[in-house]
Amino acid sequence: MEIKTVAVIGAGTMGSGIAQVAAQAGYNVILIMENLQGQIPEKDLPRLQAEYCVRGIAPIGGSLDRLIKRGLIQEADKKAILGRIKGTVNMNEAKAAQLVIESVTETLELKSSIFKDLDAICPPETILASNTSTLPISAISSSIKRKDRVIGIHFMNPVPVMKGVEVILSTFTSQDTADTSKNFVKSLDKEPCEAKDHAGFIVSRLLDVLINEAVQCVMDGNKPEEVDKAMKLCCNFPIGPLELCDLVGADVVLHGLETMENEFGERLKAVPLLKSQVRSGALGRKTGKGFYDYAPRQ
Ligand SMILES: NC(=O)c1ccc[n+]([C@@H]2O[C@H](COP(=O)([O-])OP(=O)(O)OC[C@H]3O[C@@H](n4cnc5c(N)ncnc54)[C@H](O)[C@@H]3O)[C@@H](O)[C@H]2O)c1
Repeated sequence: MEIKTVAVIGAGTMGSGIAQVAAQAGYNVILIMENLQGQIPEKDLPRLQAEYCVRGIAPIGGSLDRLIKRGLIQEADKKAILGRIKGTVNMNEAKAAQLVIESVTETLELKSSIFKDLDAICPPETILASNTSTLPISAISSSIKRKDRVIGIHFMNPVPVMKGVEVILSTFTSQDTADTSKNFVKSLDKEPCEAKDHAGFIVSRLLDVLINEAVQCVMDGNKPEEVDKAMKLCCNFPIGPLELCDLVGADVVLHGLETMENEFGERLKAVPLLKSQVRSGALGRKTGKGFYDYAPRQ
């Protein structure tokens, strides 16, 4: 099956990055920012649609501007790329796509219900993919019919920069779905890395464990800056594990560990300091405070 149109559900950090790289590679993109169809009065739809589109597509424009500044694309390319992205708040528009990539908030209930809706909306041959970081693909797709057309396509942050993409096959994923998805990843000038369908796959499983142990090092009396310095200078890490926790968000790391503890048991239990960071709202860069202080200087 030839992929011409890709629908991306969720226009957050990851969804807008995925929409951008797909449009840059020449695909038509339908960016579904919310599903408001039938949820609000019909008369309010056009206004909300316009508001969501400005909010959802503006970051892509900003990212393309940075590429122009670096001389990697021209102003005309930006116009053409943005011209291939259609924003909408109507999930039914996913029916025009041959590949749908769900990239909404990391909750099993939300993702499962979106997959159920997509199963009803999209033609049977459409591939339904999730960008989940940790949730097993088989759990997200447990109640849908086309299990052979379901796969994990897990992009890394920031999407336009990172070369590797995990491709997660469930027991039901067909060879054709796997091949088509891997070829799609390659067409974005990225490299697919195949992973088994266990919570956390390969990347989140190893990274979240490393971050958790780094937080334990802080509980044992080590300074965060010394933990990060040691890993950068002694192990050649490009970023320290606590800096990475602040970048990803302590809540996201905790959620990943809880999903993995569910699957693998006690050995992947989050340490108490990580839980208290989340409870106190010290989530990292997004709240201005994590293991480091990001508050703007007065
Ligand atoms: N942030 C990362 O570093 C990272 C890396 C790899 C994968 N992921 C995964 O990507 C997914 C999205 O993460 P994110 O960081 O972009 O989150 P985010 O909070 O930035 O974005 C999530 C988006 O989903 C939207 N959304 C919620 N319900 C929706 C619905 N019913 N229809 C359409 N949109 C809806 C929200 O409005 C929001 O814009 C998660 O599964 C996460 O685990 C995140």
